[in-house]
Amino acid sequence: MAKKLKVGVIGIGGIARTHFPGWEASPDAKLYALSDINADVLKAGGKAQGIKKLYDDPMELIADKDVDIVDVCTPNMYHTELTVAALKAGKHVICEKPLAPTTDDIAKMITARDKSGKLLMTAQHFRFQGRAQALKAHLDKGVLGEIYHARSWMLRRCAAPVRPGFILKKNSGGGPCIDIGVHILDLTLWMMGNPKPVAVAGITQDRLAHKPGAFSRWGGSIPPEFDVEDFAAAFVRFENGSTLVLEVSWLLHHKTDGEDMQMWLYGEDGGAHWPANEILSADNENEQLINLQLQTAHDLEPHAQECVAFADAVANGKPSPVPAEQSMDVIAILDGLYRSSASGSEVVLDY
Ligand SMILES: NC(=O)c1ccc[n+]([C@@H]2O[C@H](COP(=O)([O-])OP(=O)(O)OC[C@H]3O[C@@H](n4cnc5c(N)ncnc54)[C@H](O)[C@@H]3O)[C@@H](O)[C@H]2O)c1
Repeated sequence: MAKKLKVGVIGIGGIARTHFPGWEASPDAKLYALSDINADVLKAGGKAQGIKKLYDDPMELIADKDVDIVDVCTPNMYHTELTVAALKAGKHVICEKPLAPTTDDIAKMITARDKSGKLLMTAQHFRFQGRAQALKAHLDKGVLGEIYHARSWMLRRCAAPVRPGFILKKNSGGGPCIDIGVHILDLTLWMMGNPKPVAVAGITQDRLAHKPGAFSRWGGSIPPEFDVEDFAAAFVRFENGSTLVLEVSWLLHHKTDGEDMQMWLYGEDGGAHWPANEILSADNENEQLINLQLQTAHDLEPHAQECVAFADAVANGKPSPVPAEQSMDVIAILDGLYRSSASGSEVVLDY
């Protein structure tokens, strides 16, 4: 049996802890090294995972010749620097979402990836959820015909992540668009077959974050330095003539316990809803409505599954399970949304 690939994780916070079970479950890789700029976090992570290779400087982990895969789990503003350095050092890289907050940064990552010949994957874990996998496999048979319209949203009520990595634009690159918009947008584009986006009309709002006493159920009061949007909506046009309506929020007065994340896809031969995984169509000859409920096989937790899939791709010469070009489309749409909101008119995407 081939030797297992050695994984070094950078940034041992909340999301890294969801990756560890994947590296443990992978037949192709194993956890080997950890890095965090916070010495206490690093020490605790090493103890919890039984890892002895601990680096307080992430560049030292990247320089470790035994590391094959670098798993970037830091806040957004470090993704580009660390990913590019790791690719230049000849490592394969899986990087948390958003791959980077700007298309320019993603372009730098793509250049470094192409020069290195290594794999780069964005950790879009919703693609690895059992229901999403089942729906995608069904849609890939062409059952909806051409998908000409989609509606998707990810809406939270009084539930902003009140941490500097998320609510300060200089750190995150944006608010719910960049934090959770990337999830539902990536999933929707993937289900649609990744059509090329060409124009966006969008709006951002911050009407609730700055109200006196505004709070998050996850982190107390919203501080005055919050400088990102709390709501956004967009209408996106694609090269193939299809369209998408997107809504995201951390703070909407919307009925939901945690978050309401949904997608509708409408094609010439049928419609589909995720996460219900219902397929709707019509028997025109007999004037009957047809509703099909897809079944889902139970599988690994999706954050873990994305790590297993990346190690499998590296070990077995497969393409990146979530290519950077698809993350570029996601960020180009969100960047277009911000620019459209600022200008008050639809913007053409020319990245
Ligand atoms: N896929 C998801 O569902 C999901 C959920 C939450 C967060 N995320 C993403 O994961 C990333 C991290 O988020 P989190 O919630 O784990 O944050 P976190 O604040 O819990 O953890 C980040 C860790 O990175 C460390 N760190 C910061 N800068 C560093 C650097 N330059 N080098 C090494 N370590 C550094 C911090 O000390 C901290 O321990 C973000 O990009 C975020 O968007 C994804």
